[in-house]
This record gives sequence, C-alpha cells and structure tokens, in this order.
Amino acid sequence: MTERKSVAEKIDILRKEKNAVILAHNYQLPEVQDIADFTGDSLALSQMAATTDADIIVFCGVHFMAETASIISPQKKVLIPDLKAGCTLADAITADQLRAWKKEHPGAVVVSYINTTAEVKAESDYCCTSSNAVKVVKSIPEDKEILFLPDMFLGAYAAKVTGRKLHIWPGECHIHAGIMTRDLEEMESEHPGAEMIVHPECGCTTSLLYQNANVSAIGNGNGGSNGNGNGHVKFLSTGGMIKHVSASNAREFVIATETGMLHPLRKANPDKTFYPAREDAVCRFMKMITLEKILKSLEEEVYEVKVPDATARLAKKSIDRMLEITA
Ligand code: 13P
Repeated sequence: MTERKSVAEKIDILRKEKNAVILAHNYQLPEVQDIADFTGDSLALSQMAATTDADIIVFCGVHFMAETASIISPQKKVLIPDLKAGCTLADAITADQLRAWKKEHPGAVVVSYINTTAEVKAESDYCCTSSNAVKVVKSIPEDKEILFLPDMFLGAYAAKVTGRKLHIWPGECHIHAGIMTRDLEEMESEHPGAEMIVHPECGCTTSLLYQNANVSAIGNGNGGSNGNGNGHVKFLSTGGMIKHVSASNAREFVIATETGMLHPLRKANPDKTFYPAREDAVCRFMKMITLEKILKSLEEEVYEVKVPDATARLAKKSIDRMLEITA
C-alpha cells in the first residue's frame, strides 16, 4: 500500500527537488506561514529575495511583492500561486499619473512605497517600506522637494517624524484606512494595560500623531513611540512589531493592522495576549494563497511574474537605493 502524503509533505519534497524557496508575508494564512522557509515584512522579504541562492522563489504575498522579487533577482524564476492576489494600494497610482505629477514638480525627488507597480517604481528615485520610510526621507537633502506616494497615512507619518514638508499622494490601503481612532479608543478602554501597536498605514495614524505633543521623539526608521500622553502607542512595520513585542515587558497588546499578523505574534510569544484592533481587518487578497495553490505552483511552475527588462532595470535602481540606506 502506498503511503498518502499531505499537501505540506508534497510541497516539502518538491521545494527540495527544485531548489525552491517559499517566502511568505506576515499577513498570509497561518498554514502558509507555517510551511514557508521565511516569513517577514516587505523589507525583509526583499532582502531575502536579493540574497537567496534558490532557483525558484514561490512568493506568498500580493503581486507587487512578487514583482519586487523578480526585479531584484531577474535570473530567478519568481512564482505567485494566485495571479489574482493584487493590492488596492498599489493600484492607487499609475505610471501615467506619476509622470503627470512629476511634471507639476520639476526636480522633485520621488519616494515610492514598495506597494506600487514595477512601472511606478521605474519612475521613482527611491523605494521605501513602512520600516524605512523615515530613514529614506531623512537621507534626501533638505532643499529637495519630495513627492511621496501612494499611501497618505504613511506619508503623513514620515512627514511628522522627519519634520519635512512632503507632497503626498492621496492613496490608502482600504483595510488599514478602516482602522480608526475610535477603534483604538474602544480597545484601550477594554484593555487599559495593553500596548497599542499601530501600522503607519492605519487611518488612525494621523490623529494619534497629532494628539501627541512630543512628536519629535517618534520614530527611528523602525517606527517608534508616539506616547499619546503615556507612551504606549508604537508605530511599527509588521517585522518591527515582532521585534518590539518580543522585547517588551507588556503582557497585552492591541494590534492595529491586518489580522494575519496575529499568527506570527502569538507563535513567537505564547505567554503574551494579543487583540486585533478590528476583527474585520482582513485583506482578502492576502488570503488567496492556499497550500493547494502553492503545491500547484511548484508542480507546474505557475504563475511566473516577470518584469520587462527595461522597466526592471529602472525600478531596481529605486529599490537598490533603499536597500543601501537600510543595510
Ligand atoms: P510591512 O512592510 O509592514 O509588512 O507592510 C506590508 C504591507 O503591504 C502593508 O499593507
């Protein structure tokens, strides 16, 4: 009688046979995170794509993330298990819109969040992620005008922390934008001792920042505390959340981001308690990747994400500048 293998076991056999690496974002389904070779935030996943010696990268995330991996490692085959896994924030600005915006501000430096298409990155001077937006903006000479896109809450955060005047594109991630100040206030009254951990794409970011008098203390490239009067609100990337929570003496945390984040936090900190700021902060695109689709992806080597050479070369410059600043 032949032994029946589980989907996870089949994935394991194939990834070894094909010298493939499975990268998963922190918002992926728990079972996807659990079988991945590496999980992380956008920056860590880009760094991993740049250094892996695998021949195939199976990217469990949304399309711009797989595109970024392909731009960084054009010699590798980059696969996304479901081509429909898109990002509404990345769709908030097109390359044509950016070209028109640049014309209105000749000589301005363009800083694009990693949640953008390859074409938009190709029109940009710098790429950034939530973990290094502040560092990237700080690295630009004071006399330069800056166009920051496409997330208005992250832009407001970077402007406040750096004290720089940024032109900010009015885009948003609908999941993060839906996490409002009143959600955090409600959670705070239910869990008065909990630390509030906030992704800077959240709709509450701006008001939390402006409630706080001591904003100059905020942020150091990895996020930071805004204190909101008592020092228990932190703005962090998803990777920054994992680092911060492990080091914190607090026992309870309210997590203001996509709820997939609860899984790696709980896994790494079984003795701490986590509450999502909103139970319904679920990105349906992030949840499109399943174990069955990963297996199909490895078996059939689908769906390849490849950026045309000319676009990839230009886009890579903006990513390389970011990676140099962050290294
Ligand atoms: P992080 O880089 O903090 O993981 O954010 C990724 C993202 O896409 C948020 O919408």
